[in-house]
Amino acid sequence: MKKFLLILLCMAFLTSLSFAQGETVMDYWYPRSMGSASLTEYEDGSLGIQGRTMDWNSPGHDFDLIAGNQYSFKVEVFQDEQTEAQMILSVAHTKDGTESYENLAFAKAKKGEWTTLEAGYVAGDFDRFVIYIETLGAPTLAYQFRNFTFTGVEAVFGSAETGSETTEVPSLKEKFQDYFAFGTAVTQNEAYNRQRMDFYASQFNIMTPGNELKPDYVLDVSASAKLAAEDECQAAVHFDRVKPLLTYAWEHGIKIHGHVLVWHQQTPEAFFHEGYNISKPLVTREVLLGRLSSYTEKIMEYLEENYPGMVVSWDVLNEAIDDQTGQLRDSKWLSIVGEDYPERAYEIARKYAPEGVQLYYNDYNTAYEPKQTGIVHLLERLLADGTVDGYGFQMHHDLSQPSVDQIRKSLERIAALPLKLRVSELDLTIPDNQEATLEKQAAKYKAIFELLLPYRDRLEAVQVWGVTDDLSWRAWGYPLLFDHNAQPKPAFYAILETLPE
Ligand code: XIL
Repeated sequence: MKKFLLILLCMAFLTSLSFAQGETVMDYWYPRSMGSASLTEYEDGSLGIQGRTMDWNSPGHDFDLIAGNQYSFKVEVFQDEQTEAQMILSVAHTKDGTESYENLAFAKAKKGEWTTLEAGYVAGDFDRFVIYIETLGAPTLAYQFRNFTFTGVEAVFGSAETGSETTEVPSLKEKFQDYFAFGTAVTQNEAYNRQRMDFYASQFNIMTPGNELKPDYVLDVSASAKLAAEDECQAAVHFDRVKPLLTYAWEHGIKIHGHVLVWHQQTPEAFFHEGYNISKPLVTREVLLGRLSSYTEKIMEYLEENYPGMVVSWDVLNEAIDDQTGQLRDSKWLSIVGEDYPERAYEIARKYAPEGVQLYYNDYNTAYEPKQTGIVHLLERLLADGTVDGYGFQMHHDLSQPSVDQIRKSLERIAALPLKLRVSELDLTIPDNQEATLEKQAAKYKAIFELLLPYRDRLEAVQVWGVTDDLSWRAWGYPLLFDHNAQPKPAFYAILETLPE
């Protein structure tokens, strides 16, 4: 037994030292399965997996990653059994014996073609990391992979390298200080990297947790189920995932925009069922509103007790309007509570939010009809109720759509209402990252900022949805102001040009 352990330890040691930066790693892969799957080495150096019975059965490889450090992975995959197969590059990580998973990159592998999967990843706080290549909806598929490369990214934060010259990156929050707060979304793993966070703090004075204040992170389902045995209207919450970011923000005087209380996505299905048990019937309107009250009260209380004054605003309701009809979209909130669920959600939020906290409605595609009209009608309803303070334009745009003119009209239309405004989730995808395309992206970013500046009196914040392209939720489209090395892109300089000298 001891000898076996020793061999395992040596292997772990070897695997973590056996490759250099950007080197191809084809050694020490093993099959992840209950015993049925196996790996085969081919003459061309690729590895194949067969005997799979589940989607997660896959080639896996341990990596020694450091929390907060940034890595990139790239691999080519091949399958010859079906017209197309959904492949995923994932990480399984373990903390104190509990394994959890993140999908890092998706690609559809066409029959007979080598297809690339590529992902940037900032390591979270875990004891063990296994990178693996799995499928979605193809549990028995046999496939091959080759040229797996692993690189530790050494981003240069805070200085711009142009040719032989190094200059300091201007600060967005300082440049725009007479106009609006400048913010970004930050996700959990980024918060572990001190250097990265210090750079963010130099650029931004408001941050939104990109996922970690959403119900699927905050609601503690098993603790809620225990409470429900006594009182169905109770909800239990936990904040472990968001703490690193909140602590950093607190220590550095950064404000937080909370996102989000009521949403049709990223909300555990259990929230809507008796006993928080998805095999039981749906709860009644009274119970769901009771749970929302309890949930909202506990979040507001926790934040105000631990970080008084830091959370300045909340997206109470997110994306409630349907793109096609302009009506309230179909959701459990609508079907269980009824047509007035938005009013009730804001009423509850108003009751428990500390004084002065601004309550926003947040949505995307504001530039299109019939959605725009639907959003305006919803805002009018909430204004009549006296509970909403502002509207957040998500602005997840691309190069061609919506047009600058459509964006201008949507700003004018919403600004006609007596509301505070924010751009809550700005990003702008492009088809490639060639110089000419980056210039086009810069021009559109600039045009958007030219539209925004005149609204300075009511525009509380402009927030990009992430900082560096590789960590964006739309990384395939290079949508942000900094590249993967944290170097400012043409778009960064272009938005500064909108400011008077
Ligand atoms: C996105 C996050 O950035 C991703 O990491 C997550 O996988 C999905 O959600 N509109 C919203 C945000 O309101 O919450 C979404 O964030 C992006 C679209």
